[in-house]
Amino acid sequence: MKVLITGGTNGMGKGVAKVLAGKDNQRHEIIVLCRSKKLGEEMIKEFEKTTFNKNISIILCDLTKLNDLRNAIQEIQNKHEFLDGLFINAGLGYAAKRVETEDGMDPHFQVNYLSHFMLTLNLLNLLEKSENGGRIIFNVTEGGKIFWDDMQMKDKWGYEDGIHQAMVAKRMFLAKLHNLYRERKGVKLSFVGFQISQTVWSNQINIIPAFMRIMATTMKIFGTFISIEKCGEIMAPLFTENQEESLKKSGKFITWKKNKFIDIREDINVLDPEEQDRLWKISLELCADEKTSQIAANLHN
Ligand SMILES: NC(=O)c1ccc[n+]([C@@H]2O[C@H](COP(=O)([O-])OP(=O)(O)OC[C@H]3O[C@@H](n4cnc5c(N)ncnc54)[C@H](OP(=O)(O)O)[C@@H]3O)[C@@H](O)[C@H]2O)c1
Repeated sequence: MKVLITGGTNGMGKGVAKVLAGKDNQRHEIIVLCRSKKLGEEMIKEFEKTTFNKNISIILCDLTKLNDLRNAIQEIQNKHEFLDGLFINAGLGYAAKRVETEDGMDPHFQVNYLSHFMLTLNLLNLLEKSENGGRIIFNVTEGGKIFWDDMQMKDKWGYEDGIHQAMVAKRMFLAKLHNLYRERKGVKLSFVGFQISQTVWSNQINIIPAFMRIMATTMKIFGTFISIEKCGEIMAPLFTENQEESLKKSGKFITWKKNKFIDIREDINVLDPEEQDRLWKISLELCADEKTSQIAANLHN
């Protein structure tokens, strides 16, 4: 499988990248979209040493910048003829204050949701060429709401609200993509929302304030957290399973409990086609990218 992972230099993305790189006799090719060349190159060295997989590469992209993203999309299209999997994962977590991106957006909205909206639409052509059944796995969590009147959270900001808004937006996006592809003839792709059921000991621990770190470290002793590698082991089958199994999960929101994947009941507003269309339209306007709008229009034809 050839899998592109956003945010694979730390946390859950790194765990999935590492496990996939070492799985099935190093058969899988891993492409990591990351913002730091240094971290990306260190990750390649580490994985080559620990997994013996030499088929790992990086695409540099800061997801707070739509211009960077346009270049990264072009680079992926130039370098790759197909993709089997895409892990929509990179995300901002804790932030002390709201800092607007150069595109004038709330960073949680842009990094965790909008940039992934644009990336996904622009990579569908490569996933459609997969001979193993293209699939997109979205790293999501339950709950959250869209602040329709203040999506960029200019009036009332909170990093947790920002994270949760992006989560609900990603779930609406995947549900809409699933519906669009269900109606398409001949082409099948799977769109799966996955929530990890235990907190992953990720790089967030180095970013959060000291008092939160002390609390987390205490909780770690009681086994509250799982490692990034354990997270990778749980999630890897979603990328390597056959297309039939993957299609059965498409459009669903699932988690892993008692050694199996189980469904989570999705919120009614996430499944509402009118709300999905409203978000889709706003997202296209914010991307302000002709090619992305064209891809979106073609999906409706
Ligand atoms: N940890 C959990 O238990 C948990 C549970 C449920 C959901 N999640 C979600 O999982 C995702 C990953 O979180 P994590 O806990 O694994 O955190 P993490 O260790 O901080 O990893 C976040 C990843 O996203 C990348 N990233 C952040 N901003 C970026 C940008 N502007 N451009 C490109 N890449 C960027 C980071 O790059 P660098 O390596 O350069 O920092 C890093 O690789 C998030 O969406 C989070 O909400 C986490």
